[in-house]
Amino acid sequence: MRLTPGTAADFVLATSDHAFARDPYADYAMLREHAPVCRQPDGSVLLTRYADVLTAFGDPALFSSDKRVDFYPRFGDSPLYEHHTTSIVFNDPPYHTRVRQLLAPFFAARVLRQMEASIAAMVDSLLDRAAAHGRIDVVRDFALVVPLNLIGELLGVPYGERAPLRGWANAILGALEPVRTPAELAAGNQAVEDFKAYLRALIANKRARPPGDEAMDVLWALIEAADEQRADDERLSELEILHNSIFMLNAGHDTTGSLIANGIDLLCRYPEQRERLLDDPALIKPAVEEMLRFESPLQIGNRKTTAACEIGGVELAPGTFLHLGIAAANRDPAQFPDAETFDVARTPNKHLAFAHGIHTCAGNSVARIEARIAFAKLLERFPRFSRVGAAARPHRSRFRVIDELILDLGN
Ligand code: HEM
Repeated sequence: MRLTPGTAADFVLATSDHAFARDPYADYAMLREHAPVCRQPDGSVLLTRYADVLTAFGDPALFSSDKRVDFYPRFGDSPLYEHHTTSIVFNDPPYHTRVRQLLAPFFAARVLRQMEASIAAMVDSLLDRAAAHGRIDVVRDFALVVPLNLIGELLGVPYGERAPLRGWANAILGALEPVRTPAELAAGNQAVEDFKAYLRALIANKRARPPGDEAMDVLWALIEAADEQRADDERLSELEILHNSIFMLNAGHDTTGSLIANGIDLLCRYPEQRERLLDDPALIKPAVEEMLRFESPLQIGNRKTTAACEIGGVELAPGTFLHLGIAAANRDPAQFPDAETFDVARTPNKHLAFAHGIHTCAGNSVARIEARIAFAKLLERFPRFSRVGAAARPHRSRFRVIDELILDLGN
């Protein structure tokens, strides 16, 4: 049931229905307007206004990312708990700073330029294959394949061993949803164990045959950094390497796949915007930013207050768990004129799809390059593609996922 001005304050994220997951934007508008700091039955709070979400992202000392206390009741003593509490994204400095510094060289401009050729070749070969069929499931055969292979390359996962990554990511990220079943939780835990076992074997192989200097291999760099003679508190343990690699592999392909799939869906739903892009390919850059704003792949983030504070005019006690409505903030009319309009030329566009502050997505440039190349080439080769049926969306509200989207390529 859709929210009204009278029911907005009673909205409960943890029991939200499939209709909300399919299309949350009308409810987000009601929340922004009538319950922007929406108290949940468990004491947590959902923020939906741009200014409030920005404030929470911008002050990591007052709004902590550390999930050790909050995830225990959700995950217990489990592989998922171990994973989430060890990965960079759910930690505060100084551990967060240490991992971020180790990852930084892989997102330098020089490395990104090298990636471009590899992405373009990958996209071309996928589109060649699609041309032969005339119809494709863009999620399975395009949107996910490009980022999966790129992140596989970045972490040095051999080509033939990348197939299970998709299922593991799906199970691990799915278990983070506000609404999930015991079976989904069990699948998430199993995926962490399988992923760790796989990476342990991969590390053993790399130790036996170290990759050359020219290889872009984040995993090997983390192993070498751990092996170097450093003070104990500076080096990463094996578990820390495993969980940060799992996080990178998941963060690096699932969200980017979602950006590309949602972007294609948007170009089908708004043909006049596609025409503008076809007329002026230089609009690809702002168009990708608008796709990120309009259908943000990560719709909700989390933080916890470390001290008493006020947000959106409401007093919050220390230890209050916050749901940061990234997708809701990205459609806030106080920040974006005509916020519910998809406009491929929108500028400025200071969306929060990659968050803000010290945890700003480390891979944002990689995701942007992948999406720009994917859209430029898709539009050039198949300007008249169309949807065969609507995009199939699972019951997920944290991640804006499409399970299946069949395209007729129109050639
Ligand atoms: C469209 C694609 C992507 C979106 C929308 C996205 C979104 C995000 C967001 C919102 C965060 C911050 C979460 C928080 O603080 O609560 C984040 C963090 C992160 N992302 Fe991405 N991401 C994308 C692609 C990627 C890619 C391609 C990579 C790696 C190649 C990546 C690696 C990371 C890492 C390492 C972090 C942790 C940063 C930190 O905690 O300092 N992401 N991402």
